[in-house]
Amino acid sequence: MAEGSWYDADIARVIISEDEIREKTDELAKQVAADYGDTEGLLLVCVLKGAAMFMADFARALGRYGPPAELEFMAVSSYGEGTTSSGVVRILKDLDRDIAGHKVLVVEDIVDSGLTLSWLLKYLESRSAASVEVVALFRKPEAVKVNIPVRYVGFEIPNEFVVGYGLDYAERYREVPYVGVLKPEVYTRG
Ligand code: XMP
Ligand code: MG
Repeated sequence: MAEGSWYDADIARVIISEDEIREKTDELAKQVAADYGDTEGLLLVCVLKGAAMFMADFARALGRYGPPAELEFMAVSSYGEGTTSSGVVRILKDLDRDIAGHKVLVVEDIVDSGLTLSWLLKYLESRSAASVEVVALFRKPEAVKVNIPVRYVGFEIPNEFVVGYGLDYAERYREVPYVGVLKPEVYTRG
C-alpha cells in the first residue's frame, strides 16, 4: 500500500511495532507454557476492552505451546476521570463461571498505577482461585511504586499516554496494530 492508514497521520511516534508485539507475545507464551506444564483447568481472564487484542494473540500463542485454557472476560470501570485511574472499581461484566480451585492467569494490556490490577487480584483471590498470576504486555514506571506481583511483563514503556493494540484515546485507536504516542494536536481538536 503506497499510502499509510488514516491513523498513521495522528501518531507522533511508534513506541512498539507490530513485529515486536508479535515476537514478544510468542516469547511470553513460551514462558507461561514452561511454567504451567500440563496444568488442568487453566483460565485466562481478560479485562475488557484494552486487553482484547493481547488476549486474542496471547491465547493463540499459548495454544501452540501450553496446556488447554479457557477464556474468560470481565469488564470493569474505575471511577474517576480522564487518563488516570482511581482504584475504585465497579464490575460491569463479571466472570461467567466459578473459578474456585482453578489456576487463573490475568491477561492485562498495561499496568500503570497498578490500582485496577490490585483490586482485581483481591477480587479473584476472594473467589477462591487456586493461584492468580498476571501477564501484562506493557508496564509503566509508576508501577514500581505499588507492590503488585506481575509475573510476566512484555515491555517496560516510558511514562507517556499511549494508544493502539487495544489501548484507546476516547475509544479511538484501539485497532491500530502498533503502540504509539499521539500528536499533541489530536488532543486539542474538537
Ligand atoms: P492502573 O493505573 O490502574 O491503570 O494500573 C491500568 C489501566 O489504565 C489504562 N491505561 C492506559 N490506557 N493508554 C491507554 O489507553 C495508556 O497509556 C494507559 N495507561 C493506563 C488501561 O486501561 C489500563 O488497564
Ligand atoms: Mg485495561
